[in-house]
Amino acid sequence: MKSMKFKKIPASPRAVVSGLAFVAAVAIAPAAIAQGGGAASPAVDPQAGKQLVDQVCSGCHGPGGNSTVPNIPKIAGQHRDYLIKQLADFAKPPEDKSSRNNAIMSGIASSLTPADRRNVAAWLSTQKMSPGAPVTDKAEWEVGQRLFRTGSPREAVPACAGCHGPNGDGLPARYPKLAGQNADYIDAQLRAFRDGTRHNNEAMQQIAFRLSGPNIKALVTYISSLPSQ
Ligand code: HEC
Ligand code: HEC
Repeated sequence: MKSMKFKKIPASPRAVVSGLAFVAAVAIAPAAIAQGGGAASPAVDPQAGKQLVDQVCSGCHGPGGNSTVPNIPKIAGQHRDYLIKQLADFAKPPEDKSSRNNAIMSGIASSLTPADRRNVAAWLSTQKMSPGAPVTDKAEWEVGQRLFRTGSPREAVPACAGCHGPNGDGLPARYPKLAGQNADYIDAQLRAFRDGTRHNNEAMQQIAFRLSGPNIKALVTYISSLPSQ
């Protein structure tokens, strides 16, 4: 039924009555989104997303997406569009320069349909990220705070807050939440951007390239301690 209507549309687009146009928009939207375009928002099913998280993701990412494993990220409370982008990047072939490569996640993300990705992201983004780590080294934390808020003009490092927000909560759509993320994971990602093994964002690569080891350590201490809003 749907596919018949779908096929009819291009033949005489102007003759389409509004009811049929609506059906066509619904039928076409998932394909458009899969290609990274499309303004129409396709149907999402957060409950189906929750089920998938419970069955497939929580073994590693923790119950509800709040991982307690140091090198596995918390995905609860992360922004929806950022989650969708990461899953799409993991699923790209490794030779694609904008792919994100990880042996485990690439396999898992490739097995998810675009609808699965939208569903898990819709559910996860409405959850709350668990609180950050307690501060152990106050002096290092202060260095991290300064770097995060004002950057380091001398080393041409911009303020992280400029994109990730003054409290590290990110900005929906493009900039991920960092506040309260697991320390070992943040550390690994900054190093991966710096050495080019994570290459799915040019700006972050350029920034990480200018971070010294001690600066990374201080930033990780600060960011992982922030309470997630
Ligand atoms: C076998 C363990 C495992 C399972 C199962 C798993 N993940 Fe992951 N996931 C990881 C690891 C490890 C990373 C970190 C990858 C890296 O270092 O780049 C990760 C990273 C991610 C990221 C990137 C987060 C960020 O902040 O950028 C997302 C999103 C994600 N996983 C979603 C999922 C979803 C959704 C599922 C279930 C459908 C899932 N994962 C199942 C281990 C797992
Ligand atoms: C110009 C904007 C911009 C600035 C400034 C910036 N970031 Fe980012 N950052 C991004 C974007 C965009 C991403 C998401 C990349 C992607 O799509 O995978 C990101 C991703 C990250 C991630 C990975 C998060 C995850 O869950 O995997 C970390 C960690 C990070 N940034 C830390 C920092 C730190 C620390 C600074 C300051 C030194 C900083 N960023 C400054 C734009 C920025």
